[in-house]
Amino acid sequence: MENLNIGICGWGNVATGLFKVLEENNTIIHQKTGCNINIKVIGARRNNPKCDPGDVIIERDIFDVLDHDIDAVVELIGGVDTARELILAAIKKGKHVVTANKAVLFHHGDEIFLEAKKANVSILFESAVCAGTPLIKVIQEELSANNITKIAGMLNGTTNFMLSEMEEGSSFEEVLKIAQDKGYAEPDPKFDIEGYDAAHKIGLLSSIAYGTPLPPDNFHIEGIINIKKIDFDYAKELGFSIKHLAVAKKDDLNIQLRSHPVLVKDNSYLANLKGVRNGIEIDTDLLGVIHIAGSGAGQEATASGLISDLINLMKTNGVFSFPDFPDSLNTIDIAELSFKYYFYIEAMDEPGVMASIASIFAENNISIETIIQKESTDGVSPVILITNRYFEKNVNKVIKTLDSLASIKTYRTIRIED
Ligand code: HSE
Repeated sequence: MENLNIGICGWGNVATGLFKVLEENNTIIHQKTGCNINIKVIGARRNNPKCDPGDVIIERDIFDVLDHDIDAVVELIGGVDTARELILAAIKKGKHVVTANKAVLFHHGDEIFLEAKKANVSILFESAVCAGTPLIKVIQEELSANNITKIAGMLNGTTNFMLSEMEEGSSFEEVLKIAQDKGYAEPDPKFDIEGYDAAHKIGLLSSIAYGTPLPPDNFHIEGIINIKKIDFDYAKELGFSIKHLAVAKKDDLNIQLRSHPVLVKDNSYLANLKGVRNGIEIDTDLLGVIHIAGSGAGQEATASGLISDLINLMKTNGVFSFPDFPDSLNTIDIAELSFKYYFYIEAMDEPGVMASIASIFAENNISIETIIQKESTDGVSPVILITNRYFEKNVNKVIKTLDSLASIKTYRTIRIED
């Protein structure tokens, strides 16, 4: 296939980015691939003052896009319910689908892939994970001979940007506003800062690497909203940096799926990827650990991934190999996993405060690797500690005790990823 006629559904930041990159990089795309991508129609509920679509037909009802003579639909409306309906309607009409929408695939992936398989059309979603930074095709194609044991990374550009800026001293609110202004954050930034966006992405990677269901079971999701600027200083003092990590890890029978903040060694590969960059480590049997990093959000980075899918469609003539995993792995509850933990605890400044905190851990059979007491202010004494490695269900007993004591003013805990 040398020519691909497409319809774009949605006319926001990502869609207009695709339109502009297809215009501006048209020559380079053609020179490198011999392919022509023609935008025949755009489904836009309203005009976008930031982009003039020229002569391209505009449909105000996005579903009318499907009635045009197009090979593929690029779904960029975002959200879940209408996006699902649109994708299923496109499949029914025999159109291939390219989407950057991780949420709809996370919640309805199994249904969508099944319908696509029945209808013999492709569903491509490179830009749904880390925008155009190549990951989906790397896992599906380049690493297809590898047993992948762990995929872990910063999959949300907004939180990596925010944590990097907070590490330099900015406040949470300040940096969230900048991330929104730069177009990194989701329309509802709750998806970024509460960990859902990263969870959606690792859910998709786990589904293509391990065949876990979409939606997945037993997913542990936490965001960055409880992290304070001071945690970066203490983490640094202890030789760590704070990141938001999404992890899919497999052993013979189980899989762990989690998206939460972690302390990582400050000299590690992941600790050193700052700003909106996404970074991922993949543990493989044949290649060892491989690293992939790149911009994970923004108009141009997303357009890069969308166009790679469109070119892939042309090169494969739309023939898509659906993964086939016969055995489904059990997704293990986080309570059954073990970590080392960072604790920040503020206790009433009384004699022996450090010893009494240490005894809470000892009474719950949790031993402490490092403990530091900081200077008291306003009658409150901060204590920072790192535990040895324990099962989360046991550490939860310490948390229960801390919750019950009037002498503990506040505390926070972050898992340590090694
Ligand atoms: N809000 C997302 C992020 C956009 O910050 O990574 C790209 O998926």
